[in-house]
Amino acid sequence: MSLPGSLYGLSRRSLLGSALALGACQPAAQSQTPTISLPPLKSIAPFPVGTAVQAVHLTDPSLARLIAAQASQLTPEWEMKMEYIVRDDGTFRFEAPDAIAAFARDNGLGLFGHTLVWYAQTSPAFERLDEGRVSFAQAYRNYIHAVVGRYRGQAVGWDVVNEAVAEDGEGWRDSLWSQRLGAFEHMVLAFQNAREADPTAKLFLNDYNLEWIPKKRATFLRLVERLLAAGAPIDGVGTQTHVAADQAPGEIARTIAELGQFGLQVHVSEFDVSLSRAQGLRLNRAELERQQAALYGEAAEAFMALPPRQRFAFSFWGLRDSESWLKREDASDTPLPFDDQGRAKAAAAAWAARVG
Ligand code: G3I
Repeated sequence: MSLPGSLYGLSRRSLLGSALALGACQPAAQSQTPTISLPPLKSIAPFPVGTAVQAVHLTDPSLARLIAAQASQLTPEWEMKMEYIVRDDGTFRFEAPDAIAAFARDNGLGLFGHTLVWYAQTSPAFERLDEGRVSFAQAYRNYIHAVVGRYRGQAVGWDVVNEAVAEDGEGWRDSLWSQRLGAFEHMVLAFQNAREADPTAKLFLNDYNLEWIPKKRATFLRLVERLLAAGAPIDGVGTQTHVAADQAPGEIARTIAELGQFGLQVHVSEFDVSLSRAQGLRLNRAELERQQAALYGEAAEAFMALPPRQRFAFSFWGLRDSESWLKREDASDTPLPFDDQGRAKAAAAAWAARVG
């Protein structure tokens, strides 16, 4: 049985035949959501509306219906990352991302690839790479070409490099990638390999807390400038925008506006507004939800203020509260536009009012 490839760019058979095989390639009780009737978000917005999704979500009929009705583009939440695709022996697996891609195709939705190069995920196969058989740079290229090439012509874009800027904005993160291929060079290489693998996909640099830490935003912007000056084929910038209800008004808008300065595509790539992370505000739930709705409105209004050609997509990091990653931190959190039953919340209405 030959596998779709590996870091070595070889079939599993030839790989396993080698002695040098890469050791081989919800808050207390939910406040009762008032019934809000909204047209599908994607029918209101004059730009693509995205959502994070996992393959398992698509086997839940009510959730699959909500996703197909509300979103125009899907971002695999984790199954297009190295942690899923690259097995410990360096071989690749694509069952889950292929299922997401098939659902997108069957429902006329776009597919946004997330993410190729991330300091947080390196895979043992890269860490233990036997460079006697293939160089690190070649394995890096094989991986990017195998993943991006697989969805060539379907993926509308990719987070090529994710979270490259240091937590406090003081420089860039150290990672296996920067150590082995160069602090800046590994990023240029990633963009170049992704462009070669799919010339039609828009290529993004993505990061988070840009609205929370001005220094991080400034360093991110300088990095974009440096990538552009180096001729890296970057088409867009992604601001994840995972915020809490205590986010100071105006910072999301300021961030989106500043990201627009290069004339590149702008992707609000992972939007959610946590109530639980804003406990410092000592507000009651209704007050937190009002803050949340105000931030949904601010983000929508700021995104609409971009020139239409720069509005790549506004993606939520999930649609229904019940699937939010934030539930793992606090099961009572309700950060998304729809409640556990898929009903639109006040936050969704505030967002819709400013994009429609
Ligand atoms: O579903 C499997 C389960 O079958 C298995 O038993 C279990 C143990 O391995 O793993 C489960 O998969 C987990 C998956 O989330 C689904 O819950 C993965 O281990 C876990 O790593 C994965 O976490 C994701 C995380 O990125 C790391 O990839 C989160 O869902 C996802 O929301 C989070 O998303 C990130 C963005 O990529 C970057 N920006 C921040 C954002 C939130 O952290």
